[in-house]
Amino acid sequence: MRLLFPLLTILLLAPLAQAQGIAEALQECPSTVTGSSQPEQIHLQITDNPNEMVVVWATEQRGDAVVEWSSETGSSSATGDSYCYNHDKAFHMVLMNDLTLGEEVTYRVGDGNVWSSEFTFTPFDPDADRFEWISIADHGLSSEALDVTEAIIADSQAQLVTISGDIAYADGNQNIWDEWFATQQESMASIPWVTAVGNHENEPAVGFEAYEHRFDSDQVIESETFWFSRNIPGVHLIFMSTEHEFTPGSTQYNWLQTDLQSANTPDARTERPFIIVIGHKPMYSSNDYHGSEVELRAALETLYVENGVNLVIAGHDHFYERTWPVNGEKVSDKGGGDVFGQGHEPIHLVIGIGGRSAYEELEEPQPEWSAYRENSSYGWTRLVYDDTTRELEFSHHRIDGTIGDSFTLQESFLSSESEESNALGIAGIDSVFAIIALLGAAFRKK
Ligand SMILES: [Fe+2]
Ligand SMILES: [Fe+2]
Repeated sequence: MRLLFPLLTILLLAPLAQAQGIAEALQECPSTVTGSSQPEQIHLQITDNPNEMVVVWATEQRGDAVVEWSSETGSSSATGDSYCYNHDKAFHMVLMNDLTLGEEVTYRVGDGNVWSSEFTFTPFDPDADRFEWISIADHGLSSEALDVTEAIIADSQAQLVTISGDIAYADGNQNIWDEWFATQQESMASIPWVTAVGNHENEPAVGFEAYEHRFDSDQVIESETFWFSRNIPGVHLIFMSTEHEFTPGSTQYNWLQTDLQSANTPDARTERPFIIVIGHKPMYSSNDYHGSEVELRAALETLYVENGVNLVIAGHDHFYERTWPVNGEKVSDKGGGDVFGQGHEPIHLVIGIGGRSAYEELEEPQPEWSAYRENSSYGWTRLVYDDTTRELEFSHHRIDGTIGDSFTLQESFLSSESEESNALGIAGIDSVFAIIALLGAAFRKK
């Protein structure tokens, strides 16, 4: 009987005018011909136009896709279609346009009859004075990953989440993707999560197909651009793929070169002082499990150094590590110790601490370029840009609520020499405090 009902539906629907669509559905994903039209896995995606927002969702049954939204400025709606891959879900992608920056939008998605509940988001101004975001990698659905999810949902200040690849760890089991999106929906329906692909997005028998149907960077359904950039306050943010060709002469390399050069002109730097690259595999890692991706470094390090990339945020090795500003494994200037600026070589981060089992074996002794590393904690990282100070603060948060590492990027250059004088200055103040404390103690004794 369970088989008979969908079969009857198919037989009844087949002669209708939509025969072509049905035929396509039967061929591609027969199980999406029937089932619930209730939207699930609702998530926002940003385009390169800040006045736009894409919303993607899934249903069991194929059908129309409608988004209705409203804000103080007025109400609007837009439509799309459904598409699928070899899985029992249909997907929908609709673009919301003409949004007013900084104005809260209330929206719902559905097929015109069956609707989701209402969600809200606020399109951010890429020239805002302050911006806070979360950066994670190697996430999945472990209990530690759920702690990270909870922390993201609870973070009312963050306006964006970036992922440096290895997202759901579906590895061919498409239900894992469904569960991952359902688990993140409370955050992803309100703030955009923007992703670079990792090796686990290239799935057995599926390849990148699941990723391409479920995320969007280019407003094209069923395919994806794997390298793209977005402007956020203070930062030109580049998403690249370590899982596709990246050597000089490749399409990706040429794109990276053009995008980096335009982000590194004096005018562009005045508008946005920092350049950050999000990618999966690390050029620098002192973890024994994978370690530094030497081919990646050989292909791209010079390009990053020449164009003043400030941070490269990677994952893949499941631990936390921050390098000093480095080029060719050499550290020529440690900045202010925990303050760095334009003119310093790139700092590389491995933040594969989003929830997958920690890789605890480390290369010993710790390489000179490695500034800080932690091999058995889980968590996420946070970045805060303040346009009044023109500084970007980075912090590494463990799921137990403590902070493991932090540093500041500032617009102006600060060298190790000024750090020494700084250190002396602080030592001087410390000595004065010590003398006052001693005098106080002596006084109390009397
Ligand atoms: Fe991973
Ligand atoms: Fe990986």
